[in-house]
Amino acid sequence: MTQMQDTIFFYSDYDSPGMWHKALLAEMPDARFTDNLADVDPADVTVAVTWKPPTGFFTPFRNLRLVVNLGAGVDALVGRDDLPDVPIMRLADQGMVSLMTSYVLFAVIRYARDIDKFEEAQRAGEWRYIHPRALSEVSVAVLGLGELGSAAAMALSGLGLNVLGWSRSPKQIEGVRCFSGLNALPEVLSRAEIAVIMLPITPETRQLINRDRLRLLPRGAKLVNAARGAVVDETAMIEALRDGHLGGATLDVFETEPLPEASPLWRMTNVLITPHLASITIPESSARDVAESIRRVRSGLPPLHLIDPARGY
Ligand code: NDP
Ligand code: OXD
Repeated sequence: MTQMQDTIFFYSDYDSPGMWHKALLAEMPDARFTDNLADVDPADVTVAVTWKPPTGFFTPFRNLRLVVNLGAGVDALVGRDDLPDVPIMRLADQGMVSLMTSYVLFAVIRYARDIDKFEEAQRAGEWRYIHPRALSEVSVAVLGLGELGSAAAMALSGLGLNVLGWSRSPKQIEGVRCFSGLNALPEVLSRAEIAVIMLPITPETRQLINRDRLRLLPRGAKLVNAARGAVVDETAMIEALRDGHLGGATLDVFETEPLPEASPLWRMTNVLITPHLASITIPESSARDVAESIRRVRSGLPPLHLIDPARGY
């Protein structure tokens, strides 16, 4: 079947089809868009724009050319056994990058400027002076230097913090001391007063930050996790927060979400919890990349932000 007009099928329980319809049609007035199977012959669907689709979702779409994951993390997609053999893109537009960068900057600066201690002092009604340190004296490790992690690392470095970065493959990022591979992880952790997790969840990264690795951080270090909860051993993290090995944590993601009411994390005064919103997808800014990818795939080129299902990100 050769068809010039693309038919986009949309599925997400979290994103608004109306907003995506408007944003995509502004970029591709010739495309058909639907989120209702009754309105379309599944054989006409060439693009699936989805977030966490149900099992069997892809089966009727036998002429798919592109899958668009409506977010950055593809962990909910790559583990499935019904994944079609077509290119899969994730989102990584400037809107998403800026939101994540702002979250990481906020969390790191809150620790670097002792704001967490002033919050505690205020609760106690105390004027507790702590002499500020130069930001260059504060060492931050960013674990994961992809689309979001590298932008956060560069922003931290731009403020003058001492930034170390860690990834799977070697990287060169101005202002960031880059390390790669598992062998380098102990050195990175042992130098980090604040560790920021920006890693995808894959078989290699699941529980990567386990009890032993948490103990490699200097005593009193702070942890920021804005990527995926299961990268960290949550039980070991709670133990370290209790015994003071970890001085504090800012957590946007958890092994189980929503975080269960019974989790001790809710009641820890050295923990700041946000409900998985460090960054989100903004249709107006992502639609441009999605439209460009659809055009690229139509011309036989790979889409933007192509992921590798075998690698898991
Ligand atoms: P990318 O896929 O662009 O980058 C991933 C980075 O992790 C790369 O630098 C990669 O290394 C590194 N990495 C992967 N596996 C390993 C490993 N085994 N050892 C060392 N490094 C590894 O991801 P993004 O930067 O876009 O996003 C990171 C994660 O943030 C997403 O996967 C998602 O789970 C999460 N997220 C959370 C959001 C929230 O609201 N809380 C919102 C958006 C994303 P290399 O460069 O060498 O490949
Ligand atoms: C994402 C997320 O991966 O929201 O985009 O976590």
